[in-house]
Amino acid sequence: MKYKLTPSTTFTGTHKVAPDKSISHRSIMFGSLANGVTRVTNFLEGEDALSTLQAFRDMGVQIERDGDKVTIHGVGMNGLKAPTKPLDMGNSGTSMRLLSGILAAQDFDSTMVGDASLSKRPMERVAGPLRQMGAKVTTTGEKSTPPVTIMGGQTLNAIHYEMPMASAQVKSCLLLAGLWANGETVVAEPEITRDHTERMLTAFGYDVKVSPLASGNEIRLTGGGTLTACDIEVPADISSSAFFMVAAAIAGRGDVILPKVGINPTRTGVIDILRLMGADITLKNQTLVGGEPVADICVKSSKLHGIEIPLHLVPLAIDEFPVLFVAAACATGKTILRGAEELRVKESDRIQVMADGLTTLGIDCAVLDDGIEIVGKGEGEFVFGGGAIESHHDHRIAMSFAVASLRASDEIVINGTETVATSFPSFANLVKEAGLGLEVIA
Ligand code: S3P
Repeated sequence: MKYKLTPSTTFTGTHKVAPDKSISHRSIMFGSLANGVTRVTNFLEGEDALSTLQAFRDMGVQIERDGDKVTIHGVGMNGLKAPTKPLDMGNSGTSMRLLSGILAAQDFDSTMVGDASLSKRPMERVAGPLRQMGAKVTTTGEKSTPPVTIMGGQTLNAIHYEMPMASAQVKSCLLLAGLWANGETVVAEPEITRDHTERMLTAFGYDVKVSPLASGNEIRLTGGGTLTACDIEVPADISSSAFFMVAAAIAGRGDVILPKVGINPTRTGVIDILRLMGADITLKNQTLVGGEPVADICVKSSKLHGIEIPLHLVPLAIDEFPVLFVAAACATGKTILRGAEELRVKESDRIQVMADGLTTLGIDCAVLDDGIEIVGKGEGEFVFGGGAIESHHDHRIAMSFAVASLRASDEIVINGTETVATSFPSFANLVKEAGLGLEVIA
């Protein structure tokens, strides 16, 4: 599938962006392991979250779905059944890494497989510490990559683990394994990372202790407890909103309202970075929904300028860098990102793949080991030329270059856009309504 984008200059309106992916995944996992019935509203009907849903159905959990409403009949901490075939995680790193922690503690064997992109992603970051807890996990791919096979029936013991990288997936995996481990599991993160697991475990009645370290947090929980079902309303995803925020900021005529977006402080780096670049962003109607802060995000056309991105904001905006690079190209002056080596192991190598695409569209940029330098061309109306972009099975690459068409002089074609359905199935329709000249070519 491809997107063909004809240049346009307007990006306006009120748009309901896709529900949060991280929270949708966790709602299925915790709802399945809880005692009682969990009702989820505004669940993300994207392929990634549906991979998690299917995996729990494959392990015997009764889950009903009516559009974005999901009812999960929890089976309790010891109620999962052996799947009869490998669990297919599709494109979803979150599903595979978080499920590793759950599966390591079951009394049955299991195997998880993924698509071409997921099959290249590192899994030792979870397999290593799980083994330290006593799990039997094998990464059977060529480079310690998927498929992942897990031998059941092991006794897990709690560990104190200092994560070498800032990863919410690794943290969550170990906390999940810790639910079944003997003793107190302690995970220390080098920097603050998204805390949806901690918040949702608390919402399901589990005792989770969080204490601040010099830069990140230390999270503790003791195994052997239970989860109690609760209702979850999923906010709109700030990561999906980021495409709309940048689009409105760079458009000649940009003015959008994005209602009820999750603004959990562990996710709002994109707002901070865009504001530092000069973007006109306001938050209205701030409130709490199911333990998560939400707000309406309003963004207007703005003159952006390049910045050195503060290091502490990197993990708080980790999924938003592809579209922030598009914003950087539309700024005046240079933008420098460092400390972001994690971008190289996302759905694609997001530093290299973005640099290749930006270069194709006429932007001057230099790839660094752990980041990128982008020379903005924000003085002119047109920033990008036309050209063909490869998205490398990466939804966020595809959506980022679609946004670039708001400052392009020529047609942009983006190849391999089917993965947009993993996180934001309504993307093409919504951005067309807002003003993009987007045509989907099957
Ligand atoms: C996620 C954590 C992040 C993020 C991913 C979702 C999560 O990954 O990039 O899209 O839901 O926990 P890392 O933990 O690898 O940084």
